[in-house]
Amino acid sequence: MEENKLTTNTPEKRQEILTAFEHRHATKGFDPAKKIPTEDWETILEAARLSPSSFGYEPWAFLLIENPQIKEELKEFAWGAINSLNGASHFIIALARKNVTAESAHVKHMVEDVFGLPFSADAPQTRMFKQFQTKDFDLNSERSLFDWASKQTYIPLANMMTTAALLNIDSCPIEGFDRVELEAYLSEKGLLDRSEFGVSYMLGLGYRSGKIPLKKRQAKETIFTTVV
Ligand SMILES: Cc1cc2nc3c(=O)[nH]c(=O)nc-3n(C[C@H](O)[C@H](O)[C@H](O)COP(=O)(O)O)c2cc1C
Repeated sequence: MEENKLTTNTPEKRQEILTAFEHRHATKGFDPAKKIPTEDWETILEAARLSPSSFGYEPWAFLLIENPQIKEELKEFAWGAINSLNGASHFIIALARKNVTAESAHVKHMVEDVFGLPFSADAPQTRMFKQFQTKDFDLNSERSLFDWASKQTYIPLANMMTTAALLNIDSCPIEGFDRVELEAYLSEKGLLDRSEFGVSYMLGLGYRSGKIPLKKRQAKETIFTTVV
């Protein structure tokens, strides 16, 4: 366990963070000549790996697509990814795990092999998780379970994009694809077991090739309501 040692934050540190958020844009044009250095790439992946998830069950996996032929073929199913596939240094397909329920093999694996605890169907943690899913969050269909897992995969997405931005690396999150066709393609290639996973999103990472438009956002007063 690590203690949280209070440090004084500096204006420079705050500005560095906000500059990274200003700098981050859904990049439409990537410079194909520029490659992300290995150390930066590993840092981005570590930000994904260290991301939090509901109950800590990490219902995700990531395909790191380096194969040029696959990148070319993906364009057929992923209209929103064409810019990234044409020039991004790195390309990720994020998968969300299906049927992560209290007694699933995945939860048992997480509890036993990752947390190092004994797994039991009657353990308080298992019962609590079951109640959370079936009652509190009404996760009682395959679709709602998939969507719940998929929601969580967006936490590593945000962390990867922010980490990249802090390292001056551009990115583009992508939902512009036909999920059924894409999953059939990945399954045919032996990259996806559709009984275990579905595609959540894609992410291109690299370096912008041109100027980026001005960032437009709603006003603070519109989105934040302080309740005193
Ligand atoms: C979940 C998600 C899916 C997106 N899908 C695509 C996409 O398929 N293709 C694309 O070019 N941009 C995509 N975008 C980029 C958004 O259009 C962009 O983030 C938004 O317009 C705000 O602009 P900014 O990110 O440059 O600040 C997506 C963004 C998010 C968060």
